[in-house]
Amino acid sequence: FQTGVLDGLRVTITAGPTREAIDPVRYISNHSSGKMGYALAEACAEAGARVTLISGPTQLPTPAHVTRIDINSAQDLLAAALEQPGDIFIGAAAVADYRPQSIAQQKLKKQGDATDEMTLQLVRNPDIIATMASLSNAPFCVGFAAETENLLAYARSKLTRKKLKLVIANDVSRTDIGFNSDENAVTLVTASGEETLNTRSKRQLARDLVARIADAYQQDRAK
Ligand code: C5P
Repeated sequence: FQTGVLDGLRVTITAGPTREAIDPVRYISNHSSGKMGYALAEACAEAGARVTLISGPTQLPTPAHVTRIDINSAQDLLAAALEQPGDIFIGAAAVADYRPQSIAQQKLKKQGDATDEMTLQLVRNPDIIATMASLSNAPFCVGFAAETENLLAYARSKLTRKKLKLVIANDVSRTDIGFNSDENAVTLVTASGEETLNTRSKRQLARDLVARIADAYQQDRAK
């Protein structure tokens, strides 16, 4: 395992779920454990980077030598990212695509017996990684594509649409890997091709990904 491939570089990593408040006691979220993002943060620090981990709520300890910033909502995640874009930006967070249009000041109450339905108006959240990749001084952006079908086609469309340099494609229809699992298998998608890294621990996968990301970053810099 290579030490030092990220020496002196600043890496910002988003990880975990976001929570989008509905009222003072309720929120919309997802099952992201944060494990892949935390494993990447650890591997980047081992490789010599100065790592900022912008994290939604998780059960995980902060990896050694990593600066962690805790956030809840996608909007807070974006604000933290803009303050700390880094040289390399890795978007591993499972950001909620939508949030409630407004946050109720008081706990919402059940409606009377007249109806069994209630409607929550949602609005689009900002796309954090696409925003970072479109900055005039954009960091080298690495995104994830977690899909249940058409994995590589969707991954490639994210690469171009979001202006990413590398997309880590993850088949989340498989229950043995990915969400909440300690293992993962992915395919790396870049403008020049694809490479599959088959099933291994998230920790080992993170180290292997860091080697590829460092390579791709240096190649991009040399252009
Ligand atoms: O579009 P989709 O959510 O599938 O894209 C996944 C990639 O985009 C991940 O890298 C994720 O962290 C990032 N993303 C983001 N902000 C969003 C939605 C996704 O940074 N609002």
